[in-house]
Amino acid sequence: MAEDATERTLVLLKPDAIKRGLAGEILGRIERKGLSFVAARLLTVTPELAGRHYFEHKGKPFYDALVRHITSGPVLALAIEGRSAISVVRLLIGATNPQVAAPGTVRGDLALAMTPNLIHASDSPASAKHELGLFFRPEDYQSYTRSDQEFL
Ligand code: PPS
Repeated sequence: MAEDATERTLVLLKPDAIKRGLAGEILGRIERKGLSFVAARLLTVTPELAGRHYFEHKGKPFYDALVRHITSGPVLALAIEGRSAISVVRLLIGATNPQVAAPGTVRGDLALAMTPNLIHASDSPASAKHELGLFFRPEDYQSYTRSDQEFL
């Protein structure tokens, strides 16, 4: 059987996730799935960085609230790596609107409102490449094999 491609994706644990003490819970779900974090950074997102990250949503009615939220406190930026990481992480986090996100997903289990919806994850290879480049430099990435995956 052909191996799934190893991918990297950007995950942002938003200020509501950090302030509610849910960073470990959410990263734990990603790790338990079998994905690895290969770069991490706790930072306050500036309005300039928020504008670059959310450029495709400029002009939408929710844009100002989105930027206000992501700049409102610390964000944990994570580069997540593993088999089909981009689509797998999107499945784990659930639908954008937590009120309809499936139980078992991060948003389905842990969030209720649209703007503070805990987490962002890249939605395509192109956006993953672009977004990872906004938060990490090439030398920020670590390379390791998880001991539970040494023989896979
Ligand atoms: S997603 O999850 O990226 O596919 O969702 P998308 O529909 O493309 O929305 C992009 C980001 O905008 C946020 N969003 C909203 N915030 C507040 N109110 C409303 N109505 C709304 N609609 C979309 C959504 O949470 C996405 O943020 P990120 O940080 O990318 O998850």
